[in-house]
Amino acid sequence: MRYLVLNWKMNPSTLKEAKALFRKTKKGAIVCPPSIYLGHLKGCLGAQDVSWGDSYTGEIAPKMLKDMGCKYVLVGHSERSRYLGETEDMVSKKLRVILEEGLTPILFVGDESRKSDDDGLITDKVRRLVSGLDTEKIIFVYEPVWAISTEGGDSPASEEALRGRDAILAGVDKDVRVLYGGSVDSKTVNRYLEFDGVVVGRASLDPKEVRKIAKQL
Ligand code: PGA
Repeated sequence: MRYLVLNWKMNPSTLKEAKALFRKTKKGAIVCPPSIYLGHLKGCLGAQDVSWGDSYTGEIAPKMLKDMGCKYVLVGHSERSRYLGETEDMVSKKLRVILEEGLTPILFVGDESRKSDDDGLITDKVRRLVSGLDTEKIIFVYEPVWAISTEGGDSPASEEALRGRDAILAGVDKDVRVLYGGSVDSKTVNRYLEFDGVVVGRASLDPKEVRKIAKQL
């Protein structure tokens, strides 16, 4: 089975639009809406973030996500480290509480720059992040920062993406699931069919695109 993860980020702007988009795109997908919509989208499977603390203003606990029916939680997205100061230590803590609650983390890892030819950085980062955790329960995503649509959207060819996947696999001792993310749409998805699925950002807001992507998976 190939996973189709739809990362809505901060879209859409109203609950009415969110309900319409969800109805049109939920089939066979793990939709990850902004958390404020979670309780309104019945059968919604994914959340975009979670907290490990128990009294951090504005944050959401894994138990609450589970109660809303979530099974998957995105964690470690590069936008959170780049723009919101999320550290590796925070990502590790989140991974731990997600797993303790019986939810499945979808962990993003990727290189910052296309020029950096050091796959070892990815491998080392994965090792640090998952140290002591049951990696079989984690879904990994190779998502190069430079390939994200809002960061340049320079999506990699198949071999280049597979090198990223292999760098992740080198950091874990088990045969784990790895998805690809970064400017996936109906035209590029066929480059990434050797992955266990894809994460879709911008194109996830267009039901026609989602349908076309799903057909190819
Ligand atoms: P994109 O976003 O598909 O718009 O590049 C993917 C992501 O950031 O998860």
